Amino acid sequence: MLQNDIFLRAAKNQSKDRTPVWLMRQAGRILPEYRKVREQAGDFKTLVTTPELACEVTIQPVDILGVDAAIIFSDILVIPEAMGLIYEMEERKGPVFPKVIQNEADIKNLHIAEAGDLQYVLDAITLTKKALNNRVPLIGFAGAPWTIFSYMIEGGGSKTFSKAKKMLYTHPALAHLLLDKITESTINYLKGQVKAGADLLQIFDSWAGILSPEQYREFSLKYIRKICEAIPDVPKTVFAKGAFFARQEMNQLPCQVIGLDWNMEIAESKVMLFSKVLQGNLDPCALYGSLEDVRRETRNMLDQFGHHPHIANLGHGLYPDTEVDKVKCFIDTVKEYSVTLR
Ligand code: CP3
Repeated sequence: MLQNDIFLRAAKNQSKDRTPVWLMRQAGRILPEYRKVREQAGDFKTLVTTPELACEVTIQPVDILGVDAAIIFSDILVIPEAMGLIYEMEERKGPVFPKVIQNEADIKNLHIAEAGDLQYVLDAITLTKKALNNRVPLIGFAGAPWTIFSYMIEGGGSKTFSKAKKMLYTHPALAHLLLDKITESTINYLKGQVKAGADLLQIFDSWAGILSPEQYREFSLKYIRKICEAIPDVPKTVFAKGAFFARQEMNQLPCQVIGLDWNMEIAESKVMLFSKVLQGNLDPCALYGSLEDVRRETRNMLDQFGHHPHIANLGHGLYPDTEVDKVKCFIDTVKEYSVTLR
């Protein structure tokens, strides 16, 4: 039995407790304790592929920040790598794929990943579950097929993602072939994460916002739905950054929780997503304000969610230059906010 299960109970809409809180990208980025382990490891990929180290940095925010859930330390880009496309993590620059997908032959050469291809993540999950000793639940995750597709075509970050979008317009059948392979790999991987002990799964669709509503339906939502349907065993959260236009359709997804970014108005989202638990959605930049500002902004967010089932979080990942005391202030303000005050 979990000692603190308020996050999971909220995700299943069974909660009468206070609002649970965790932060996207809470592992790494802001903690000096993370940077120390990261330095010892030498590079990001060593950290991700060494279960003992991944376990250590996964638990750090639980100990140091007091969040109500842990998220396994890994990256969404382990999937393309398991399919045969190796990534590199360049200091201060981010991920780069030396080889990208350019044509049908490249797609045919990709392998459909099995859970065992990512044994190091599964081992990190098993180890972390043991080390957490039932203190808080552990979140597993993967990128949404569309976001992974974008990285595999572009080879890294991009302002326009025009190469990835070009394929949707010029070779839609090829795009579906690749999206299918990514989806199958992701299902195998997430099933492995559940077997290894993940209590809830979150799907990150970081580049949802660059598609038109029609394209989003055809090239992204359809595959997210497939993943959710294939894994009925645990609650699932879908976070589609920028997909304000798809909220009504997301209300129909077979998942329990929808993550909101800060552009999505809360009052409107409660109506459009009436059957979902909502997660989010404070602007990560709000944490640059004074402690007083952070408290006010956080309470304002909680007031707006009101009695709608809610998990407090940011509207996207923490930025690396956020001060730890501001993050703690956000978390403590959520914890202190009394339901009776609503
Ligand atoms: O949430 C957590 O704390 C768990 C770990 C986690 C990481 N990446 C570790 C990481 C998670 C959930 C991710 C997801 C991820 N990775 C996403 C989706 C979420 C989002 O932010 O939209 C995306 C798009 C990526 C791809 C990625 N990985 C980028 C663009 C970068 C470079 C810039 C950055 O975010 O720092 C990474 C590197 C990365 N992934 C770091 C961490 C802690 C920084 C690496 C370092 O230690 O130098």
